[in-house]
Amino acid sequence: MLTMRIRATRPTVHALQPSLIRKVANTAIGRSDIIPLWFGEPDRPTPRFIRDAAKDAIDEGQTFYQPNLGIVELRQALATYTNKLYSTELSADNIAVTPSGMTALSVALQCVVSQGDTLVIVSPVWPNLPSAAEILGARIKRVSIKAVDNQWRLDLDELFDACDNKTGAIMVNSPNNPTGWMLEDDEQRRILEFCRERNIWLIADEVYNRIVYDRLCAPSFIDKVTEEDKYLIINSFSKSWAMTGWRLGWITAPRSLLSSIEMVAEYNFSSIFAPTQIAGITALQEGEAFICASIERYRAALNALTAAFAQLPRVTFPQPRATFYAFFEVDGVSDSFAFAVDVLNKTGVGLAPGAAFGPNGEGYLRLCYAADVALLGRALDQMTPLLN
Ligand SMILES: Cc1ncc(COP(=O)(O)O)c(C=O)c1O
Repeated sequence: MLTMRIRATRPTVHALQPSLIRKVANTAIGRSDIIPLWFGEPDRPTPRFIRDAAKDAIDEGQTFYQPNLGIVELRQALATYTNKLYSTELSADNIAVTPSGMTALSVALQCVVSQGDTLVIVSPVWPNLPSAAEILGARIKRVSIKAVDNQWRLDLDELFDACDNKTGAIMVNSPNNPTGWMLEDDEQRRILEFCRERNIWLIADEVYNRIVYDRLCAPSFIDKVTEEDKYLIINSFSKSWAMTGWRLGWITAPRSLLSSIEMVAEYNFSSIFAPTQIAGITALQEGEAFICASIERYRAALNALTAAFAQLPRVTFPQPRATFYAFFEVDGVSDSFAFAVDVLNKTGVGLAPGAAFGPNGEGYLRLCYAADVALLGRALDQMTPLLN
């Protein structure tokens, strides 16, 4: 087995760090007694009606290359779906389908980020956002959201002060992985206005826009931007329709950008399997009841978790307003990686260390509560001696 790390040709690749979440999970390889709450995905498989749509397409022989921007029926279905949710007037020409939200992010960044650009990013955040930019030679400046009175908050002045003449883009993931924080409409308007004044890009990751507890969908930049704005909005089928393994996402962008995205898509993935895209159309057209039922399950899990954490004086749990993550602080924990490994070894519960989401996540742990309440209860019982 190769143990030495060979120096990659490009320094930005050589400088990449492995995911701390994977590092914790790797310590449990071979163990079958784990309650895995470390990764961010729904616990149930994709609904059958979505799977059936893909099976039918395979049986029909839809196995050929497809257009780089996605099949027009899916792009149109995405525009219709978004227009209904946000009262927008998007057309298929605003939409590029990608093989995952992750690829949407990479393609978006490849379109607009140059070597040496600074990207200002709201943090803690899913590590793939900054890393995908760093591969391209961008420098990352983090602006922290902070837990105040049991709620996560972003100080917009801090965000704006972090931007200077080297800033190429503001990157924001709302609703946010790992904290469940989300921007409100007026905050989004101010951020967009700032990007306009500075003539910088806005890259918004909105993959959790349907996993929200007090409304049908989270506030989005989508109903605030115009064709003249420099924006790229990332979304995915993974979380809303339990389709993590399918690898299907999309970018919403000004129409004038689509020909650039099309070329970047050509040289990255050259189209997506048609049955996957057809499954996506079915999810959009028939998946609302599934989303509603999922939210009710997650809500029950969140309530159970909140009640259990309230009994643990060392635990501080700022309430998530969206997503299916509990990002909680444990008094006395200064090395979240070591603590997550300890929890795993002693209790069999798999958590993600807060440090994986940036230096300002240190001291926290992330637990994905897209799980049955009974399983969560068992996990909490097992962890209580370590959290007490
Ligand atoms: C904030 C955020 N953006 C994007 C993604 C990418 O999702 P996918 O590549 O599965 O579509 C994830 C996945 O965890 C995420 O948490």
